[in-house]
Amino acid sequence: MEVTDIKKVGVAGCGIMGGGIAEVAAAANYDVIVMEAGQALLDNGIEAIDASLTLSVRRGKLDENGRKAVMGRIRGTLDLKDFADCNLVIEAATENLELKKRLFRELDKTCKSDAILATNTSCLSIIDMAAVTQRPQKVLGLHFFNPVPAMKLLEIVKTIATDDETLRVARAFGESLGKAVVIAPDIPGFIVNRLLMPFFLEAIRLVESGQATREDIDRAVMLGLNHPMGPLKLADFVGLDTACFIAEAMYDEMKDDRFAPPVLLKKMVAAGRYGRKSKKGFYDYG
Ligand code: 3HC
Repeated sequence: MEVTDIKKVGVAGCGIMGGGIAEVAAAANYDVIVMEAGQALLDNGIEAIDASLTLSVRRGKLDENGRKAVMGRIRGTLDLKDFADCNLVIEAATENLELKKRLFRELDKTCKSDAILATNTSCLSIIDMAAVTQRPQKVLGLHFFNPVPAMKLLEIVKTIATDDETLRVARAFGESLGKAVVIAPDIPGFIVNRLLMPFFLEAIRLVESGQATREDIDRAVMLGLNHPMGPLKLADFVGLDTACFIAEAMYDEMKDDRFAPPVLLKKMVAAGRYGRKSKKGFYDYG
């Protein structure tokens, strides 16, 4: 298989990440079919893609005909069977290993035997998903970053079973989306989250201990390290529930205290302070 054989891309899940992936794939001229678990979720997801493209038009990056053409290449479905003729499927569903394994089992039955099955998981074990299929050599991670259209990186996660052809085609696919590719190991957090989570958690521990203010921590990292956002602002942006989930999943697998979520983070999540999406996290977004 070559990247030129990829004509149709399936995206399972149309949340922030799935919608972003669908958008960049359609913008790169692939036919895209995106699936959600219910009509309202699907409608919201497709509306969000349209809103993001409309923003690109406003920013002068795309014209109105371009927006219509990209939207015209995206179709929604509630039925996984519509992925039957996809050459590549990217799963971007909720971070729940049992749900993902169920999806991979169904995708394996539904998709052509040469189709590549990928997951956008941020931290879960990809070999566990590959192992429920009859094609573990064709399973890998395609880990995109939020906001997908703006972030240049694509982490390609190779499991111990992924073969060289799958890796080569996935790399060419990522590059065809305009992404820079790195190859990461199938270990908890891959490369980026392996580094990002201790960074987030240490920043939260500093706030928790009262040793530094959130503003000073973020300003220090922005101005001292040239990051576009400080760790607390970025944690709010990623979602504190998501960050806490990733940290817990990494801690569960490695039993390494560096990844243990601080009590403050767990309490904020319990209180529904998820960051930007709930309008309250380390900062207020009301
Ligand atoms: N869609 C498309 N393009 C967007 C965008 C969006 N939602 N948001 C911003 N952009 C583009 C703009 O068009 C602009 O492009 P240009 O430089 O070519 O003109 C550029 O990004 C900068 O945009 P703005 O000036 O409007 O806004 P900012 O300068 O405030 O940047 C940001 C916004 C890109 C979000 C920036 O703050 C940033 O890079 N933050 C860090 C984001 C990050 O680290 N994400 C990774 C999170 S970790 C993750 O996703 C992994 C997961 O597993 C946890």
